[in-house]
Amino acid sequence: MKSYNRWMGLLLVLLVFGLAGCGKEETVTNVGKLHFENPLKIPQLLEPVTASDGVKHFKLTMQTGKTEFLSGKTADTWGINGSYLGPSIRVSNGDKVAFDVVNHLPGISTLHWHGMKLPAVMDGGPHQMIKAGDTWKPHWTINQPAATLWYHPHIQGKTAQHVYRGLAGMIMIEDQDSQKLPSKYGVDDIPLIVQDKLFTSDGQLSEKDDTTFGTLGNEILINGTYDPYLKVTASRVRFRLLNASNARAYYFGFSDDRSYKLVANDAGLLQKPVKLNRVKLSPGERAEIVVEFKPGEETILHSYSSGSGIENGEFDLLKIKTASKLTGSAPIPEQLSSVPPIEVPKDARVRQFKMTMESKINDKKMDMERIDEVVPAGTKEIWEVDNFGWSHNFHIHDAAFRVLDVNGKKPPEYERGRKDTVFIPNGSTVRLAVEFGDYPDPDSPYMYHCHILKHEDDGMMGQFLLVKPGTESQIPKKLQKDSSESHKQAHPE
Ligand code: C2O
Ligand code: CU
Ligand code: CU
Repeated sequence: MKSYNRWMGLLLVLLVFGLAGCGKEETVTNVGKLHFENPLKIPQLLEPVTASDGVKHFKLTMQTGKTEFLSGKTADTWGINGSYLGPSIRVSNGDKVAFDVVNHLPGISTLHWHGMKLPAVMDGGPHQMIKAGDTWKPHWTINQPAATLWYHPHIQGKTAQHVYRGLAGMIMIEDQDSQKLPSKYGVDDIPLIVQDKLFTSDGQLSEKDDTTFGTLGNEILINGTYDPYLKVTASRVRFRLLNASNARAYYFGFSDDRSYKLVANDAGLLQKPVKLNRVKLSPGERAEIVVEFKPGEETILHSYSSGSGIENGEFDLLKIKTASKLTGSAPIPEQLSSVPPIEVPKDARVRQFKMTMESKINDKKMDMERIDEVVPAGTKEIWEVDNFGWSHNFHIHDAAFRVLDVNGKKPPEYERGRKDTVFIPNGSTVRLAVEFGDYPDPDSPYMYHCHILKHEDDGMMGQFLLVKPGTESQIPKKLQKDSSESHKQAHPE
């Protein structure tokens, strides 16, 4: 039955591609169009106010504004503590943090901490709505290894619009391991928030979203900067790559094809650095790379085309020019993370998720009132994700995972570390060893979903509860547990 469905799915895809003429899709590109005239903006590092009890307080205000992306033209945008994007937040494992999230937007929004392990009521998903004029005050203790995370709205049906208009920012979690890497913010530790955009002729952000994947832009912003360059003054620079685009995937390399060291995936540092010259990131994914530079050279950070749909596109992203004298820095240690790779026990529960062209997971659209999965808190499971049509990716809240295999084969080298979001190529099965968080709450769900924001908004999302082990069968009071159970694998318990 499963393989029959798969073949029907593939057949349908071929048919649709054939009919739409997508087979002869032209490569979208900005190559040759740029002049690299604008200094790369570096988001401000937000200083917390530390209270007498040691809690670090941060204030984030979601607001409307105006931004000049294209010279002489003004766009209406949204931002956090500014007109476009938000400040970077740097914290350490073990820190107690508290946020004031103020909503000065014209309507409801939420703010989600993508990649954060925290209680579900603090997660900022679709249930933690902040009305216009209100302030939301989540707080928690940072309880995970060093990683590059990000924050963005997660409002039911409108995440694409809110993120596209500019609501997003970076979070850097540090620990003893991460301190061995270049860490001078804006000098040798540099955020690169990559977003594709469509502009109208008068320089406004066009929200045209008529593709299967929503808005696919033909221009690129890095940290909200159009046509950017960066002057580098250090011989070794750590770039924190964040794909904060609505749908587009990037395949990062340099114009001179130099190699670099991949040091972290979404959810943390690798055990050992890996020498590579290409890293692919789909929406929501992050990677940290360390690049070596010589004095007085130039290179361009580039995204190579790697397929069709969200993978189609060849872009110059950022010109890098180095100073005539560079400051040295310590070599990258051979041993990076002290956290062992995620392993699941032999008898781990296996759950299956089927992603289809109609933006459904296991034949269902998101329902805020329905619980799709109940998972014992603190456990490890295998989640098997099948993609039956189009490109999708898969993100799990409050979890970290390791990609076990893609169609039975080892995953590409750039996605073997700790992750929380993974690309699921068309027609593929990806198996994940998932480590769940440890904050049981039978009343508040976490989300899993496709991070192509139009798909998420269309309902390609499910909800899971983390509950005290042994209480899985108790039906939550406020929410309805999914009664169909039809999608679940029969598992002798
Ligand atoms: Cu980046 Cu559920 O989100
Ligand atoms: Cu998330
Ligand atoms: Cu999708």
